[in-house]
Parts: sequence; structure tokens; C-alpha cells
Amino acid sequence: MDSKSNPTFYVDKIPVYGDVILSPMTGYSDVPYRAICREYGSAMHYTEFVPVEALGGKPDPDNKFWKRLDQQPEESPMVFQIFGNDPKLIVEVAQKIEALEPDIIDINMGCSTRRVSGRGAGVGMMKSPELIGETFRLLNQYLSVPVTGKIRLGWDENKNYVEVGRMLEESGAKLVAMHGRTKEQKYNGFADWDAIAELKQAVSIPVIGNGDVVEPEDIDRMIEYTGVDAVMIGRGAIGNPWIFSRRSRGDLTFGELIQTIRIHLREMINYHGPFGLIQFRKHFKKYVQNVGPIEQLMAEFMQADSADAFKDALDRCEAQVDINQTIGRLEIELEQFEDCETVL
Ligand SMILES: Cc1cc2nc3c(=O)[nH]c(=O)nc-3n(C[C@H](O)[C@H](O)[C@H](O)COP(=O)(O)O)c2cc1C
Repeated sequence: MDSKSNPTFYVDKIPVYGDVILSPMTGYSDVPYRAICREYGSAMHYTEFVPVEALGGKPDPDNKFWKRLDQQPEESPMVFQIFGNDPKLIVEVAQKIEALEPDIIDINMGCSTRRVSGRGAGVGMMKSPELIGETFRLLNQYLSVPVTGKIRLGWDENKNYVEVGRMLEESGAKLVAMHGRTKEQKYNGFADWDAIAELKQAVSIPVIGNGDVVEPEDIDRMIEYTGVDAVMIGRGAIGNPWIFSRRSRGDLTFGELIQTIRIHLREMINYHGPFGLIQFRKHFKKYVQNVGPIEQLMAEFMQADSADAFKDALDRCEAQVDINQTIGRLEIELEQFEDCETVL
């Protein structure tokens, strides 16, 4: 199918062209990284999540939380993701940020971090399906943009994703994305794709499946196995934007890898200023993970204290490798992140 001219699915009336989407990830899915992933084919663009309590005042471009709602004109469909535990405040803030013209507003009901879930926000909301229903009914009543939700399987082994999915649909949600683990699992074990398939069967709104997609073939495997409308990729996309074009990192040449690193670094500095270099380091570690000849130079990169010093290190690196040689098969390691913990 030509995903450029035929939408793969719709979120209410908003067309989505493509079936693979970069996950919202605090500390990673910022404007520069979203732009790179979009180049390779990520079909929808989520901001990092923002606590509604932080958006109480007027929009302030110097405030790190308001800054998360920056968007580029090419990012459509653009999804602003927020979280909270008070339906009225969620709606108030959603109305306010609607003025910044996102295409969609998403409520995070999946974050398992204690600071979020412990106060009934993030996956903490899944303990109260009624509260979810109330929140979405209000959102639907007061907003013009479609509202969507991102969930997990539930809080613990009493998984209630089918109940919550149906509640979301009945209360006006226009899409549900699900990470196939419970709150208690955090990132342990494997994402449950059977559960994702069950949710897809249980609702008629579009479903995005999420969890443990690391290689291009996993994208089609998840779609075939679960029937979802699209696949969302988080950890497997860090340092690996090529996955959105269904290309394996191991098939790249050293030259291509280094070129993307250069572009990403440049965009991070352009967008974040000098702080962009520090922000870039965690991406860089993933770009070169298990890429022997480059990873060996890691210490040199990590000591670079300016963008120029970093670029010099890249030049030296480029001179030492055969830029036309492919990287070769790589071990992919998914980190056991403390979910959404960064930069709260
Ligand atoms: C560092 C990090 C930050 C995250 N931040 C968010 C977030 O802001 N909003 C959200 O809905 N999920 C967040 N997540 C969860 C991911 O979107 C995704 O659901 C999860 O990582 C599972 O997908 P994966 O196996 O492809 O990584 C975060 C995950 C990681 C690793």
C-alpha cells in the first residue's frame, strides 16, 4: 500500500500515513529527535509527557515543561501528551494547550514511576476506570481536538486493559495505545502481545501496540500477530532511527552512521544550545552501542567538552574506519529504564 497517499488509519478525522510511530520518551523524544525519526518514517509525533500541574500559568517558552510542547510545522499529526490525577485540572489544562494547535491531545495512563503512579496519575489512573471515564467524557465535551490515551496492561496481575479500553472508547477517546506490561512489571519480562491482540478485538477505535519492538521485522510481526493499526517504538528507536524505514542498524555503513550522528548533534546544538551536547551523549551511547570500532573511542567522545571537540573526535573516528563497510549484525540491548523517570 502507498502509505504516502493513502492513510493507514484515522484518529477521528485526522489521517495517519504509516504504521510505525516513535514512542513518547521523556529526555529523548524532543524536537530534534522527532525530526530525525520523521525523516525515516515515524508517522505520528508525541511530545514528552508533561504534568498538568506544571502548565498552570501562561505559556512560557523558557520553562522546561512548556518547552516540551514545542512543535515544528511538519510534525502533523502532532500529539501533546499530558498527565495528572484530577479530571477538572486535566481538562482545564487541555483546553489551554489546545490553543497551541496540536492535532491530538493524549493522556498518559502508563507511566509506572512511583512519583507519578503513586499519586494516581500515569498508570495510577488505571486503578480507577470510573475516573478515566469521567476525565474523557469531560475532555470530549470541552475540546475540539481528538483525545487519546496511552495505557499499560493494568496495575498488577489483575489486568484491566479490556475494561479500561472499552471505558475509553465509550467516553469518547479516539485511539488507545498500549504498552504490553503491568505497572508492577515495569520493564521486566516480555511485553504481552496476546493482550495487545485482545485489546484490538475488544474496541473499535484504532489501537497502537507497544513493547519490545527492536528490529524492523518485529514491526510486521507485531502487526500480523495482534492486528493493531500501528506499532509504537520506544527503547528500540534510541540511537536507531533507521528502524522507522524498516532498515536494520547492522545494514548501515559506518559512513551513514557517522553522518546521522553529525546531523543529530548539529540539530541538538541548534535547538538546545550548548546544553544540547550533554543531552546528546545518551543518544550517542546508543548509536554506537556494540559498534566495535567506534565504541572503542567512547572515552574520547565522552570527554569532549564542546561541540567542536566532539566533531574533531568524529573526524578522527571517520579516518580510522572504512566508511563504505557495513556495520554487521549487532546485539540489541534494551535498557531496564526506570519508566519516564528522567527530567520529571
Ligand atoms: C526513558 C523513557 C522515557 C519514557 N517517557 C514516556 C513518556 O513521557 N510518556 C509515555 O507515554 N511513555 C513514556 N515511556 C514509555 C515508552 O513510551 C514505551 O511505552 C515503553 O518504553 C515500552 O516500549 P519499548 O519496549 O518500545 O521501549 C518512556 C520510556 C522510556 C524508556
